[in-house]
Amino acid sequence: MKREAMIAKFKELYGEGGEIRTFFAPGRVNLIGEHTDYNGGHVFPCALTVGTCAAVRLRQDRQVNFASLNVRDGEIRSVSLDDLTYRKEDRWTNYPKGVLSIFKDRGNDLPYGFDVLFYGNIPSGAGLSSSASIEVLTALIVRDLYHLDHLNRIDLAVIAQRAESHYVGVQCGIMDQFASALGKKDQAIFLSTATMKYSYIPLRLTGLHLVLTNSGVRHKLGESEYNVRIRECQKALKKLQTVANIKSLCDLSTDQFESCKDVIMDPVLTKRARHAVYENARTIRAVSALRANHLQHFGELMNASHASLRDDYEVSCPEIDYLVDLAQGLEGVYGSRMTGGGFGGCTVSLVEDSAIDTFRDLLDSRYKDRFNLVPQFYVVESGDGARELK
Ligand code: GLA
Repeated sequence: MKREAMIAKFKELYGEGGEIRTFFAPGRVNLIGEHTDYNGGHVFPCALTVGTCAAVRLRQDRQVNFASLNVRDGEIRSVSLDDLTYRKEDRWTNYPKGVLSIFKDRGNDLPYGFDVLFYGNIPSGAGLSSSASIEVLTALIVRDLYHLDHLNRIDLAVIAQRAESHYVGVQCGIMDQFASALGKKDQAIFLSTATMKYSYIPLRLTGLHLVLTNSGVRHKLGESEYNVRIRECQKALKKLQTVANIKSLCDLSTDQFESCKDVIMDPVLTKRARHAVYENARTIRAVSALRANHLQHFGELMNASHASLRDDYEVSCPEIDYLVDLAQGLEGVYGSRMTGGGFGGCTVSLVEDSAIDTFRDLLDSRYKDRFNLVPQFYVVESGDGARELK
């Protein structure tokens, strides 16, 4: 939605007057490096051009009013800066509330509240980080409204992630918020979550595009199983630490892992750790392949990533496996895998431009026949990170 339209809607809802500012934060897609971010490994996401925008105006009291054009036009939910307790019934507003609460925990003085109107165009439940985008957006709004100029983009990502893990209660890694805060047009971010060192890698995919396929399913299991995987990785790590001097699973090379994995003594935990270690190695290799313009190899690593997420990490689901299998079997498709946390959402595929129409038609008809669901397709455009719209 255009900035002017957001401002007009804002005025309809909250009235005229004062300075109204507009901000935007994108969603993300991860190209490879899945479930490595809470294991000290590498990730390789890029920010999308879709995301969440907001029109905002400071108030003179301590009230914060939230509204969203996605929910029900006109409904305003209010909280006081003096009571930011998590409440289930506050639903989506817990995301921005969580961010405010983290700022307060860090000792930032938020003297006045504000009125805010959100609008997001990330397909819901697609696993493209709509929640991270609203968290990063809120962190940016707070920084800019209250002139907390010492905070850089990484700080914003960290605050936003903390809101998700400590307030909302999903123990996520830093990837989604980092990509939303630091994305750059036509680039993907190669991030080491152990050191927070990162570099931008140009997405030079001559003759190819990344295509997202939204399965339209989001299995309830997702959030609870996510936290289960984290605990499993922690258990495997504890065992490995008895023989290896490591801080996290991804400190191990694949060879080191093979030589000490027997100490884990639990088949499930061994599979989880194996995924983390090998996925981290694959991510590093995939980035080298992309740098060297070896796109076939990049695609093969995407396929291997999917197999590992399906078999070792067990975070895929029949719908996603079906889409990935179809894609991988098609002429002109270099690679295809699930992306994000798993249990539904989207696949990401690297497809030759000349094969995109066939890709769409075939997946569309076969998926409909098999699951009676309509998949959605998006050709990925990578975009810039969170910013004020002027
Ligand atoms: C979710 C989390 C991320 C990351 C991915 C899996 O998107 O929010 O931190 O762990 O799952 O790679």
